Amino acid sequence: MTKPLRVAVTGAAGQIGYATLFRLASGEIFGAQQPVILHLIELPQAQGALDGIHMELDDCAFATLAGVEKFSSDNLELAFKDVDWVLCIGSIPRGKGMERSDLIRINGPIFTNTGKAINAAASRDVKVLVVGNPCNTNCLIAMSHAPDIPRANWFAMTRLDQNRAASQLAIKAQRPVAAVQNVAIWGNHSATQYPDFMNAKIDGQPASQVITDHEWLKSTFISTVQQRGAAVIAARGASSAASAANAALDTVKSLVNPTPAGTCISAAVLSDGSYGVEEGIISGFPLSSDGKNWKIIQGFQVDEFSRSKIDATINELKTERDTVKDLLP
Ligand code: NAI
Repeated sequence: MTKPLRVAVTGAAGQIGYATLFRLASGEIFGAQQPVILHLIELPQAQGALDGIHMELDDCAFATLAGVEKFSSDNLELAFKDVDWVLCIGSIPRGKGMERSDLIRINGPIFTNTGKAINAAASRDVKVLVVGNPCNTNCLIAMSHAPDIPRANWFAMTRLDQNRAASQLAIKAQRPVAAVQNVAIWGNHSATQYPDFMNAKIDGQPASQVITDHEWLKSTFISTVQQRGAAVIAARGASSAASAANAALDTVKSLVNPTPAGTCISAAVLSDGSYGVEEGIISGFPLSSDGKNWKIIQGFQVDEFSRSKIDATINELKTERDTVKDLLP
């Protein structure tokens, strides 16, 4: 029998966690032949909610669910023991009147502990996807405290932005979203991110040839994607959850399967200096995977407009990094 994969989810009882677990358990992400053991991790006061979720997971009778283990965030080394994947979703959401820098300072220590515990207890080949915001900088903090885990195994989530961008291009072009490919998200998962229409394709043609309203591409398109999270909060009264869970699962699926030619995966990874992005920063790039290893796709066209957008978002990431300098060993 295939050895089960151990998949840890922090913030498992939160909105995104709840929308993630059932699809992880169902066989959809790792395949119908791959058993999965879920490690559900929550704050001590949310353990009761985990009991309820455990009951619901049992009640789905998923053939691929080989076990459910529940943990308190008080004991992360136990929680991360031998795990193959960690989805870091649990964190404190941004409150009213809170500045981004306040949030970084509040969530930073969570990710210090997360990195140390992953380093101590997880599989040596563990892959980590950070969703909790500010996800790029949280990922940098956790990775910095896990020196024994390869740098290539750390990701922060920009897939929701990629999916949002693809949908906006499809709507504007009046084409199905499956016709839109190769949409990269550069930089930070924040309002400075650069959703790259320049290299995007619609039905295999450059998006900027199919959509001739270039003013729309340069302004409305970019700001709609950048502000989409805020628009969902304004309309729904709560932040994106099902779409964020879907994006986290899309990220994992894309990394464990070969990337089709002519398409890219958007995720934030440690910069190696590609495209002039300062080394040592967790930045969104276009990636491709062979199902095991990934690489940054080279040769994307970066003109003066794109350069200025990429530089702006990288400058924000540098400022975030400087804000947490004392948390980086
Ligand atoms: P939520 O508040 O519904 O759930 C968060 C859960 O995390 C709660 O159940 C809480 O008890 C738990 N938690 C808090 N601190 C924890 C810790 N130290 N260890 C384990 N669990 C902990 O929030 P939601 O909507 O699920 O969002 C989670 C995070 O995802 C937020 O930081 C949000 O900003 C971020 N997010 C990221 C997106 C992205 O594209 N990267 C998109 C949408 C949300």
